Amino acid sequence: MHLPWPRWQRQKRRMLKLFGALVVLGLALACITSWVLDSYDTAWHPKRSIRQPAVSGGDDGCKGSSPPFPGDQFNNIFWFVQVSDIHISRFHDPRRIPDFEKFCTDTVEVIKPALVLATGDLTDAKTESKVGSLQHEVEWQAYHNVLKRSRVMERTKWIDIRGNHDAFNIMSLDSVNNYYRKYSANQKIGSFHYVHNTPFGNYLFVCVDATLTPGPKRPYNFFGILNQTQMDLLNTFRAESMTTNQSIWFGHYTTSTIVSPSPGVRDMMRAAVAYLCGHLHTLGGLMPVLHSRHPLGTLELELGDWMDNRRYRVLAFDHDLLSFSDLQFERWPAALITNPKDAQYLHPGVEPLGRIRRSTHIRILAFSEAPITAVHVSIDGESLGTGRPAGGPLYVLLWDPSLYLGGLHTIKVKVEVSAAPLSSLML
Ligand SMILES: *[C@@H]1O[C@H](CO)[C@@H](O)[C@H](O)[C@H]1NC(C)=O
Ligand SMILES: *[C@@H]1O[C@H](CO)[C@@H](O)[C@H](O)[C@H]1NC(C)=O
Ligand SMILES: [Zn+2]
Repeated sequence: MHLPWPRWQRQKRRMLKLFGALVVLGLALACITSWVLDSYDTAWHPKRSIRQPAVSGGDDGCKGSSPPFPGDQFNNIFWFVQVSDIHISRFHDPRRIPDFEKFCTDTVEVIKPALVLATGDLTDAKTESKVGSLQHEVEWQAYHNVLKRSRVMERTKWIDIRGNHDAFNIMSLDSVNNYYRKYSANQKIGSFHYVHNTPFGNYLFVCVDATLTPGPKRPYNFFGILNQTQMDLLNTFRAESMTTNQSIWFGHYTTSTIVSPSPGVRDMMRAAVAYLCGHLHTLGGLMPVLHSRHPLGTLELELGDWMDNRRYRVLAFDHDLLSFSDLQFERWPAALITNPKDAQYLHPGVEPLGRIRRSTHIRILAFSEAPITAVHVSIDGESLGTGRPAGGPLYVLLWDPSLYLGGLHTIKVKVEVSAAPLSSLML
């Protein structure tokens, strides 16, 4: 998708960059009693309705109250990154390529993700007038050169998949202009899966490739299609997810833009804690956040684009609980509270939520280019203290979850970094 981004939004981004972030607020709602969001079944609007809290009756009211519990050790945690709709272009926004290269070098260096998912529209593939579509080999070469120069593939597992723009005007998979096959890191056509193995568990990543082949011209591939053969393949991946700790599905298209045979792609991914996608960008700024929940509980998390908005996302599995934070390129420091996780994004069907109330520590991943000097934590406006570094970007702080059993609470994290000259002016 390609929609213009209002001028003032970009201004705002520049201003925020100017003021430099000495501190950052990470917001999360801590919920110890189990409750669920009402489901709604389209990714088109971010409104959520909240149902009555489920009856909370002891540990059996919560799935997964068995160990391990989040504590003060650097264990049972890994994190990864998503970036989407990069749209490397030979005609537009000359900063897009150098910024992307900086992302592959500096951002990846600071965050050190276990893997990076680039969820499609790697290149723009438009004619200069923006109306037509055409695969440009130079755009693919530029993308390829960034991967090579930054050596990002040596520093993390880089999984890049096709989007609709990457398949415009490709008559067959063997076409000479199917540059994805030649220049991407992954080069895989069709859905596939990847297992991330750790000493504490195995995590399944399933790619849903609904991109059309042959690829029609613009604008005829706004919707993706999965036929029965492709659904059968996805079903084998779904079956495999039963033997892994957690599964994440990802693809370019939102499920609202995928046509698939009954019972449909949402049903197919029901065992996944989340489906990560792109494609809609931010709907031209109208929808800065496109997060939703499928009827069977899977979270659908669309990510705003790199193209105009320089968005990316950090996600973590901490003791098999998924948390994530949608971030802005070069805005440091960045923080992700992994325990207690945000109450808006619980998946009671697959996450061991009971571990939150039996955890001994609040856990935070804090990332910054400058050295971090302190991580302050407060709940409901009351200071709780300062997190202790527990290894890597992880900070931990002792807490008593039983104090927060009822209702919703607000947890704030303030990350302080060594002052850069501009920031110290603000002190
Ligand atoms: C389903 O789609 C795949 C990929 O586009 C194609 O290779 C295959 O022939 C299709 N199968 C059927 C039964 O249409
Ligand atoms: C992952 O699953 C295995 C097998 O069920 C379990 O022993 C292990 O504790 C799980 N890992 C985490 C972090 O919960
Ligand atoms: Zn796009």
